Amino acid sequence: MSELPGNAGYPVLGDRSLEFYKDPVGFCDHRLEKHNSRVFRSRLLNKPTVLVCSVRGMREVLHEKSSVFLKDPTDLMTNMYGDTLVTTNGEEACLLRLSLSSLFTGACLESWNNDLISVCERHLQALSSSEPQCVYSLFKALGTELVLGLFLNVRPDEHPQLYQEITELCTQHWHGLISAPVSLKVPLWSSGFSTALEARDRLMEIIKDKLENDKHGLVGSLGSLPLPHPICASQHLLLFISALIPKALASLLTSFTLALSGPQQEKMRQRAKAEPEFLRCLLLEVQRLWPPFIGGRRIANKDTTIEGFSVPRGQVVMYVSHAVHRDPEVFQQPDHFLPDRWTGRNAGQEHLLCCLGNGPRNCIGDTLTDSFVKTACSYLLTHYDWALDPPDQNTSYKWLPASRPAEPLHLSFTRLDQTGSCPTHPQ
Ligand code: HEM
Repeated sequence: MSELPGNAGYPVLGDRSLEFYKDPVGFCDHRLEKHNSRVFRSRLLNKPTVLVCSVRGMREVLHEKSSVFLKDPTDLMTNMYGDTLVTTNGEEACLLRLSLSSLFTGACLESWNNDLISVCERHLQALSSSEPQCVYSLFKALGTELVLGLFLNVRPDEHPQLYQEITELCTQHWHGLISAPVSLKVPLWSSGFSTALEARDRLMEIIKDKLENDKHGLVGSLGSLPLPHPICASQHLLLFISALIPKALASLLTSFTLALSGPQQEKMRQRAKAEPEFLRCLLLEVQRLWPPFIGGRRIANKDTTIEGFSVPRGQVVMYVSHAVHRDPEVFQQPDHFLPDRWTGRNAGQEHLLCCLGNGPRNCIGDTLTDSFVKTACSYLLTHYDWALDPPDQNTSYKWLPASRPAEPLHLSFTRLDQTGSCPTHPQ
C-alpha cells in the first residue's frame, strides 16, 4: 500500500476550500499534473480530503466499496433539508430508496409523459419570435415549472401567486445552502443562512398543506408511502422541489444547445433529429464533458484503499466528476466532443460516468431526467436551428454550484418550418 500523494496541510491555515470553490477544474488540473496521480490529498472544508479523479477510483468508491465509503450524515445538506435519503446510510437508506424510487419509475414516470411534452411546448414554442435568449435562464425557468408541476401540482397558469412565492422561497433557501460552505469561521451563521432557514420554514408549511390536501400526482403518492417518520415525506418533497434540480436540468440543456450551436454543427443537429441512437450518444457526451454537479463526498468507515493508496478510517473522500470523465485511460481525446465514441471505443461504458452518481447510491431521478432532457432536446431539434447571437461571446464555463456559462450567453433560434428545412412538421 502506498501513501497518498498531496498534502492535507494544517487546520485552517492549510485549508484550500476557497481556491477549490473559485475554480474546481483549475484546482484539480493543477494537482493532477503536480502529483502525476489522479488520486491525491488536499484540505477542503477544513478536513483532510482525498480527491478522486480517475474512473477506476470513482468506481471503487461508489460501486465496489460502497459499503465502506458512506454518506456524511453531518453534511450541509442535512442542515438545509433535514434527514433525507441523500445523507442516510445502511438499511434505512435501502428502504427509503426502495419506497422513493417507486415514485420515479414505471407507471408514475409514464403518467408524466404528457406533462413533459406540454411544459416543453409552452416554454419553447415561441423562441424564434423573441430577442436572442439567455439560454441558461430559459432552461432554468423550464426546469422549475417542470419540477413544481410534477412534484407539487403547482403550475403558473393555475396558481400564479403560489408559484411565484415558491420559486422565490426556493431561491432564498438555496442561497443559504451555497453561502455557508465557504464561511469557515461561522459555518452556519450568516444573514443569508438565517433567511434561508426562514424560507425553509415557509416552504415546509406549503408542503405540509399540499401533503394533507392533494391526493393526486407525486404529492398524493408520497403521502401514502410507508415511510419511517411522519416528517419524512415533507423533507423529501422539500429536497425534490429545491432549486438544485432545475439548475441541473438547465445545465444539461444549456450544454447541449451550446455544443450544437451554429451552422458548423448543422449536420450534427440533423443527424440527432433523424437518429434517436445518435441523440443518445450526444447526450452521453454532454453529460461526460459538462456534468452539472462537480461531484460528491463520502467518508471511509474503516481503513481501506483507493487504487492501492491507503485510506484511513474517517477519511473524507470526494469524487470529482469533471475530472473522472476526462480520465485518458478510458476516454481517448478526453477534452474533445466526440459523440460517436459511445458506439465505438466506449460502447457499453455508460456505467463509467458519474454525472448522475454511480453504484447503489446513484440518482433516483435518472430516468425522469433522461426522459425530460430527451423530450426538450427533440423539441428543439425538430423545430429550430440556433446560433450564438452575437457570435463572439465568452463561452467559458463555471462549475459551481452547477456547471454553466461563466457569463449569460445568448442564442437566437430560427424556426425550421419557416426556413423550409422542415416543411411537414406540425407547429
Ligand atoms: C440533471 C439532473 C440531475 C442530476 C445531474 C443529478 C445528479 C445526481 C448525483 C450526481 C447524485 C449522486 C450524489 C452522490 O453520489 O453523492 C444524485 C443523487 C440523487 N438524486 Fe439526482 N440528479 C438530477 C436529477 C434528479 C431528480 C429529477 C431527482 C428527483 C427528484 C433527483 C433525486 C436524487 C436523490 C434523492 C439522490 C440521492 C440518492 C441516494 O443518496 O441514494 N435527482 N443526483
